[in-house]
Amino acid sequence: MNCLIQNFRGEITDRKPIWFMRQAGRYLPEYRAIREKYRMLEVIKTPELASEVTLQPLRRFDLDAAIIFADILNPLMGMGIELDFVQGEGPKIFNPVRSVSDIDKLVVPDMSISTDYTMEAIRLVAAQLNPRNIPVIGFSGAPFTLSSYMIEGGHVGNLVNTKKLMFNEPKAWDKLQRKLVDLISDYLLCQAKSGVSAVQIFDSWLGLLSVEQYKTFVKPYLREIIQNVRSATEIPVVFFSTGTYHLMEEINQLDVNVVGVDFRINISQAKKILDKKFCLQGNLDPLYLFSNKEVLEKEVKAILDQTKEFPHVFNLGHGILPATPIENVEYVIEVIRNATSA
Ligand code: CP3
Repeated sequence: MNCLIQNFRGEITDRKPIWFMRQAGRYLPEYRAIREKYRMLEVIKTPELASEVTLQPLRRFDLDAAIIFADILNPLMGMGIELDFVQGEGPKIFNPVRSVSDIDKLVVPDMSISTDYTMEAIRLVAAQLNPRNIPVIGFSGAPFTLSSYMIEGGHVGNLVNTKKLMFNEPKAWDKLQRKLVDLISDYLLCQAKSGVSAVQIFDSWLGLLSVEQYKTFVKPYLREIIQNVRSATEIPVVFFSTGTYHLMEEINQLDVNVVGVDFRINISQAKKILDKKFCLQGNLDPLYLFSNKEVLEKEVKAILDQTKEFPHVFNLGHGILPATPIENVEYVIEVIRNATSA
């Protein structure tokens, strides 16, 4: 079995598994070359391009997994959400969801049809990587983070519209969450059928909620998705969020295999709060990739030192940034391979 999947399943291996969130992206010249010719959505929707971009980082670096190239937002297009990725601005939703009637209009599509392009991209990538014993990781946004984009329409900010809907119209919020639970469960299970070896759920903006808000407006839906996935497939499930130190006791109750730890938390501290059963993933601050080699090496080794005694997958504490120097990505991997025995 691949060392990443072994750790995800609770084993410690000699080889330290490594992958990076956003490992396919603009810091790579070969990615930028593709993006000069094709729009972001074209890359996502063309299986050959999505597969090519997914494989790019694995040609350069000694990584232990690929993450399928897509975005957390494109699956929403099948619901009737109109969106695009605007150069320099990020994602933009042209018909944000603000009222009960907006929510009523949203459909829950069959994801094997509506995101057939991603399923085909997964099959293409898995055909290349599985013979080399390298797993493909699938993913989805979590209902809360997806809702925040759907409601705010782009940049999430302080979530003013999202919290307004949550607080003032809890029934409408529930209706939206139920649609997203169906969509996300179907999406993740389709990815599993298409050949991913693990799935990661991204709840990037969860840290903007209090513990009580989490319990009321997020927890039941998240649990349902995890339950749906776990009861239908054996593949490991990763839960990633940021700014959620105050929610660790809650995250501890999620029935997932892996907790993605952001860079704000000391990873050994996170381990103390969380049950032994979890594999942890993370958590180098992506900004250390802009520092000099001495600082970078010290920080990578600090994570290695703290994670010797439990299942752990090396990753960043959030996505890699577009201006990241490639030689520093190489250096991180070199430090890890030299410091660990395999
Ligand atoms: O990790 C990977 O290599 C797989 C692909 C992937 C992308 N987005 C590609 C992408 C994944 C897993 C994501 C997840 C994602 N997308 C999240 C959750 C993770 C996180 O960072 O918190 C979120 C919140 C989004 C929404 C999103 N998509 C934003 C805010 C942006 C703009 C910011 C930016 O970096 O430009 C995107 C666009 C996006 N998604 C790009 C890529 C490679 C850049 C698009 C480009 O090529 O211009």
